[in-house]
Amino acid sequence: MSEYDANKVENQGRSTKPGESELYIRFKELENKIRLLEAERASLLIEREQYVRDLEYMRRELEQARSSPLVEASVVEVLDDGRAVVHSSNGPNLVVYVSQNIDLKQLKPGTRVALNQRGSAVIEVLPKSQDMYVKAMEVIERPKFRFQDVGGLKKQIEMVKEIVILPLTKPDLFKQVGIDPPKGVLLSGPPGTGKTLLAKAVAGETNATFISTVGSELVQKFIGEGARIVRELFDLAREKAPSIIFIDEIDAIGAKRMDVGTSGEREVQRTFMQLISEMDGFDPLDDVKVLAATNRIDILDPALLRPGRFDRIIHIDYPSLEDRVEIFKVHTKRVNLHSSVDLHKLAEETEGTTGAEIRHIVIEAGLSAIRRGSKIVEKEDFENAIKTVLTSKAGKTNAYALFV
Ligand SMILES: Nc1ncnc2c1ncn2[C@@H]1O[C@H](COP(=O)(O)OP(=O)(O)OP(=O)(O)O)[C@@H](O)[C@H]1O
Ligand SMILES: [Mg+2]
Repeated sequence: MSEYDANKVENQGRSTKPGESELYIRFKELENKIRLLEAERASLLIEREQYVRDLEYMRRELEQARSSPLVEASVVEVLDDGRAVVHSSNGPNLVVYVSQNIDLKQLKPGTRVALNQRGSAVIEVLPKSQDMYVKAMEVIERPKFRFQDVGGLKKQIEMVKEIVILPLTKPDLFKQVGIDPPKGVLLSGPPGTGKTLLAKAVAGETNATFISTVGSELVQKFIGEGARIVRELFDLAREKAPSIIFIDEIDAIGAKRMDVGTSGEREVQRTFMQLISEMDGFDPLDDVKVLAATNRIDILDPALLRPGRFDRIIHIDYPSLEDRVEIFKVHTKRVNLHSSVDLHKLAEETEGTTGAEIRHIVIEAGLSAIRRGSKIVEKEDFENAIKTVLTSKAGKTNAYALFV
């Protein structure tokens, strides 16, 4: 269709008075202009929206740059009236209000929160600090120690296998027989007798997650964080089950106290209470086991030893003659021994020593050989070493006697 025809079609049915077609053209022009302006307006509106967003962003940035830092704290308890007792890392415990925006259920003992800058109200719940795990707990790398690295302690190794490892590897066995395996096992015995070593060997022998922490570190290094770490320890263990939690030197948090006067004592008490409540909180058939060690069972709070907590105690005593021979064997495995060295005889001469001391004797004997310029350790080196170690032991005992 030609342009002329098209015009004719468009103008069909219209009157063709003079001047009217001019008006029509003008009308069309205006209509086009309006359309253009409307399009322009729409794009300007979009642009304006973008500016408003930018402005909002800048305002927020400015506000953040101007605002003071918040105070980090951890919740001790939530009071019935909705306020909370919190412990800020740089000061005493505070009783503070909780912002309306926070669900009180989120606040549990140990939860990390942010207080406003005056420290008068909880205004935010902070996420768990994952790096705490790394700082306070050591997920032991395997395989490091094995049962064969433990000299003697045959009975204790069997017990550990039966009550710590077996429930994790064959839980059905316990269900079928209908007995509850113990939740917690305590290794107890004098210093240097191999408690920590045995626990490390458990880590090396099982495929379960092994998380370890040290009681004394909980109270000395992580002041104000003990309860929280204990809670996170159990959370992590449940998450990574089957798992074994090992708490070395548990007496540092589990000693009985006459009074809880100072804030340090209260802090230890809170850590202890958290441990108790975590242990009470899980089922014996859950695949988490707690192993602990102490050389001061006499000062432990009896609450720890109640059924459902550390109700199985594995005693490790000073090694017997046979055990000392075994310990000498373990520590001389890689040592170049002269044929004159009789490990049985050495064991006889070291009555009353611990595994740690025997290890010390082997190292001293090696040093004595080096001093002689020899690569082979002889009987005399051991004689000297035993003398050195036993004298230093007697010295320590005397010093202790004087001190007392
Ligand atoms: N039965 C043992 N067999 C082999 N080595 C041992 C034995 N007992 C102790 N040792 C040696 O002594 C070192 C110290 O022992 P360990 O740390 O296990 O003692 P502990 O019982 O945990 O003492 P503490 O109560 O002071 O913590 C071990 O690393 C190991 O080299
Ligand atoms: Mg130890």
